Parts: sequence; structure tokens; C-alpha cells
Amino acid sequence: MRLIFLGPPGSGKGTQAERIAKIFNLQFISIGDILREEIKLETLLGKRVKPYIENGALVPDKLILEIMRKRISNNQGFVLDGFPRTIKQAMGLDEITKVDKVVYFKCNSDTIVKRLSNRRICPQCAKVYNLITNPPTDDEICDNCKTKLKQREDDKEHTIRKRIKIYKSETLPLLNFYKKKSILEEVDASSGVDEVYLRLKEVLSG
Ligand code: AP5
Repeated sequence: MRLIFLGPPGSGKGTQAERIAKIFNLQFISIGDILREEIKLETLLGKRVKPYIENGALVPDKLILEIMRKRISNNQGFVLDGFPRTIKQAMGLDEITKVDKVVYFKCNSDTIVKRLSNRRICPQCAKVYNLITNPPTDDEICDNCKTKLKQREDDKEHTIRKRIKIYKSETLPLLNFYKKKSILEEVDASSGVDEVYLRLKEVLSG
């Protein structure tokens, strides 16, 4: 199965993609995680993309396509989280591989801002928490490795709003792109993690 999870920032694409990849034995490819890892390792690529990410802007298509061309394997099923995000990227992906289903995570802006402003990540083991829906046992300390949790630079409220605006202008047009190919499915992503997961499994099994 070759899947794309598409939706606004904070709609839960990453959370669900990780779960779905495990049960369907798919390769989980999160472009956001790949870019953040490059920043953490202070590579040349990391230094190039850091200002875009911290400002909530999109990294140029050419760079993103170069990275994804190397990551996507035609021999294994996959779930793509956060890619493609522009029409140009979607057309580039068409040249790399075929996709079976695109799932659109529908979620309103108020829910997104609430979720993302409460997201915390462990800088050591990368575990993702939410102070409201999935808090660590000890106040802002990682359950796994006891490291102090951090807020993502782009999860500050004004940057979240900017990301939503860019999502609407650059990424929303992809819905029509995939609707025309008859591979678009929609999931209401505004309820709890387990509920969304059940809906998603239904959509993918159909
Ligand atoms: P990326 O890391 O992909 O960020 P994003 O798309 O903005 O997605 P998020 O990780 O914010 O949200 P998500 O939908 O995955 O939600 P999550 O499951 O984490 O990209 C970051 C940046 O990299 C971009 O802004 C851009 O600069 C660059 N970039 C990336 N891809 C690019 C591309 N293709 N082209 C150009 N540039 C690109 O959940 C969020 C929070 O909510 C968590 O705390 C979680 O615990 C909680 N949560 C999840 N689901 C639920 C639920 N159902 N109920 C309650 N809480 C929930």
C-alpha cells in the first residue's frame, strides 16, 4: 500500500502515520522529521532549511524533491507524512512512484492551534507529547529518557497561524489534484487519537 497523509499542521498526520505504518508494515517517511534531524546534526542541508522551518515557511520544492527521490523506495509500501505539500511536489512524486490512496485529515484551525501550542517533544528520543491529550507522567519530563521536553520553534502561536495560512494557499489545492485521480479519502481528524485511528483503519481497509 502506498499512502499519502495530507492535512493541516497539527491534524495528527504524524501520530496516525506512525501507527498505520506499524500495523500495515509500511515504511514511515516523515519529511518534517528528516529535516529536523538534519538541523540537529548541523549538516549543510540542515543549515539551509533551518530558517524556513523556524519561520513556518515551506522549504523550496527542488530541495524537498531531491530528498524524497532518495528516500522513497519502489520495492516497499509506504506512508508519506507531510509530502507532497505543493502541486509541484505532487507532480514530482508522480515521476517517482504511483500512489494508491491519499487521506485528507480534516481539522479546523482552533483545534489545530490548541493541539500545536500544547505539543512538546523530547529532544533526546523524539517522543511526541501533548500537555492536554497525552501528557508525560512528570511535568514536562520525557517518560522514556527523563530529558526535559521542548516546544518546537514553529509551534509558537504566531508561527502556527502562518503555517495554517501557507497550508491553505499551497497545500489545499492538492485536494482537487487527487480528487481528479479518484484516490482521495477524507477522515474527520478533530476527535481523539483512538477514534481517528479507527476511522482511518476503516478507510484503508475499504
Ligand atoms: P512537519 O513536521 O511536517 O509539520 P506539519 O505538517 O506542520 O505537521 P505537524 O507535525 O505540525 O502536525 P501533524 O499533522 O503531523 O500532527 P501530529 O501528529 O504531530 O513540517 C515542519 C516544517 O518542515 C514545515 O512547516 C516546513 O517548513 C517544512 N516542511 C515539511 N514538509 C515540507 C514539504 N513537503 N515542503 C516544504 N517544506 C516542508 O500531532 C500534533 C499534536 O497534536 C501532538 O501533540 C499530538 O500528540 C496531538 N494530537 C495528534 N492527534 C490528536 C488527536 N486526534 N486528538 C488530540 N491530540 C492529537
